Amino acid sequence: MAEQAQPIQVQPEYKLPPEAYYDQAWLEKEELQIFGGSWLFAGLVSEVAEAGSYKSVKAGLNQLVIVRDKHGDLNAFHNICRHRGAQLVQGTGKCGALVCPYHKWTYGLDGKMRGVARREEYGDLDAEKLGLHRASVSTWMGLMFVHGHQDPTMTLSEWLAGIDVALGVFAVEKLQLLKSHSFTFDANWKLYIENHIDWLHLWYVHAESLAALKHEDGEVEQYGRHWVSYDPVKDEHRLAFENSHSLPEIPHLKQQDARYRETGAHFVFPNLPIFTGSSFFVTADLVPLNPEKTQMNINVLGIPGGDADAFLDIFNAITKDEDAVIVENIQKNMRSKYFSVGPIAHTYEKAISDFHDNYLELIQ
Ligand code: FES
Ligand SMILES: [Fe+2]
Repeated sequence: MAEQAQPIQVQPEYKLPPEAYYDQAWLEKEELQIFGGSWLFAGLVSEVAEAGSYKSVKAGLNQLVIVRDKHGDLNAFHNICRHRGAQLVQGTGKCGALVCPYHKWTYGLDGKMRGVARREEYGDLDAEKLGLHRASVSTWMGLMFVHGHQDPTMTLSEWLAGIDVALGVFAVEKLQLLKSHSFTFDANWKLYIENHIDWLHLWYVHAESLAALKHEDGEVEQYGRHWVSYDPVKDEHRLAFENSHSLPEIPHLKQQDARYRETGAHFVFPNLPIFTGSSFFVTADLVPLNPEKTQMNINVLGIPGGDADAFLDIFNAITKDEDAVIVENIQKNMRSKYFSVGPIAHTYEKAISDFHDNYLELIQ
């Protein structure tokens, strides 16, 4: 691992208490300050490709709707009718205007109030002041991110702090969605993140599934709150490894540095693990359903023509049957009065300590 050569100054620490992983009040604080205060992954630009197409998304306590307007621009609004607060739309769809299902107040694709049924009932009604509350949406190589504030303190590009450039080589806008899949597991969302950026478990939890990789030679880089890693294949396994791919190679990676075709595991703070390789770019965002239950939403992006089901089977055998299972295992212990975290590995678990620092910076 590249960081191994660095002199070790400080023993990294595990900084969150057990209740951060099971307490409902703690999750509510996270919804407000972590999920409500970050740019959050909200799906693929291709989901709202045409004028009038929309997608509703949850961002912490905020319910948002992303809409493409008639000029082709993306807008994000709070999905809250200005009459009595009903949600205007659910899921994805296409419309000419956002019409509230409750009493038919109507809003343009630009969020402006456009019409009120039984207008005479409301006396002096100032349509200018009754447009939808704006939120923010921005895109990065075909991926959408939202923020609950109209004017976030950082642009998406500032928030991404260089990971956008570091992963830009994957040019996801040139890839297609091959497969989507969601599953839930019984553990706090942070335990999965901590496992995702834990280099130490690769040797043990994935002793067989990742046996072809040479974890000792892995590379890890931190970009602001975010994390990038590549795990090279052992020379003796290279041929078998390359022949085992069930998806076609991504053409635009062929001319690039070899590291981009190695097994990549990345993390966009706060809740987006990303997996990359010579034939795939996978987003796997985590949504807490309650403090001890999390949903993972997987999008497999790549080049059509391979066997996406076979790919997903292999992917799930690692991320679900090994990673989710081991964090469920920890979760079962967290309410015990005997539970505590001992010293953590100074190189291979340092990223967890960094994650806690970034997390605590937002939640305090
Ligand atoms: S709540 Fe939307 S029209 Fe009444
Ligand atoms: Fe893992």
